[in-house]
Amino acid sequence: MNLYLNQLQSKVDFKSSIYAGDIYLNTNLQATHDLCRFAKQSITAAFDGETDHQALHTMMPVTEFVERVTALKRQFTNCLDVKEMIHKFALEIGIDPAEYLFDVPRIRVVPNYNYLHAGVSYAYKPHRDTWYGNADCQINTWMPVYTITPDQTMMINPGYFSTPVKNSSVDWSLADWINVQRPLAKTNVTEETRIHPVPQEDIQTSSEIRIAGNEGEVITFSGSHLHGTVANFTDKTRFSIDFRLIHLQDLLTGRGAPNVDSGAKDVEAGYKDLFHLNDFSQFQGVSQ
Ligand SMILES: [Fe+2]
Repeated sequence: MNLYLNQLQSKVDFKSSIYAGDIYLNTNLQATHDLCRFAKQSITAAFDGETDHQALHTMMPVTEFVERVTALKRQFTNCLDVKEMIHKFALEIGIDPAEYLFDVPRIRVVPNYNYLHAGVSYAYKPHRDTWYGNADCQINTWMPVYTITPDQTMMINPGYFSTPVKNSSVDWSLADWINVQRPLAKTNVTEETRIHPVPQEDIQTSSEIRIAGNEGEVITFSGSHLHGTVANFTDKTRFSIDFRLIHLQDLLTGRGAPNVDSGAKDVEAGYKDLFHLNDFSQFQGVSQ
């Protein structure tokens, strides 16, 4: 596995490299810094003008926090400004938006674990996105909104990129997740009762990388990497933004990272969350 620093925009065939497990770190893209600035404005608006965002969990009961985070996530995911910034990201790294789909952008809010670690702030166990029914060619981006430390971040475990992990993805349904489980996020306050695809063996952490970046510094990697949330026991809430890019032709032809262990079956159930990056129209499936 290779780690490229500030080279996403100069590597013509970065897709192949990402499908092979390489990871890219870009620290100075305008679009990702714009996204973080916009995220901060959105958080302030969602919490009635409060600007000490990393302390929000200390200011209100968890039920109110969940309500406000639910509204924040809905606004952020669906607003046009964010989609335009992802379009700008594509242009900035030199890819043709007409060749790509993108998954709805998300803002993640991870407060202190003991305050909340379920539902809207679910602490993801180690997983591949393919276990959740996502495509082998999915390219993930992820960036912190504020400077974070290794004990409040996400982890990637590259040692498992080519190594199968026993997991429960074969028993998991993306259609059920989208239609039934995902909308239940705000009802999961004290514990996560929704079923996720999870490892069924102990995960070795010797090759785990914890990504501690600053505002707007973005990592780009295959969704097939084993990754997860680092439980946040600090006194600061972590905010991050992620979105996914999917090369349309690679999706249609089945190109992408090797599938070493995912049993997820209904990949097409997730297509309704995909949009064309050139005009933001909804992806209509593989028949087009
Ligand atoms: Fe993931």
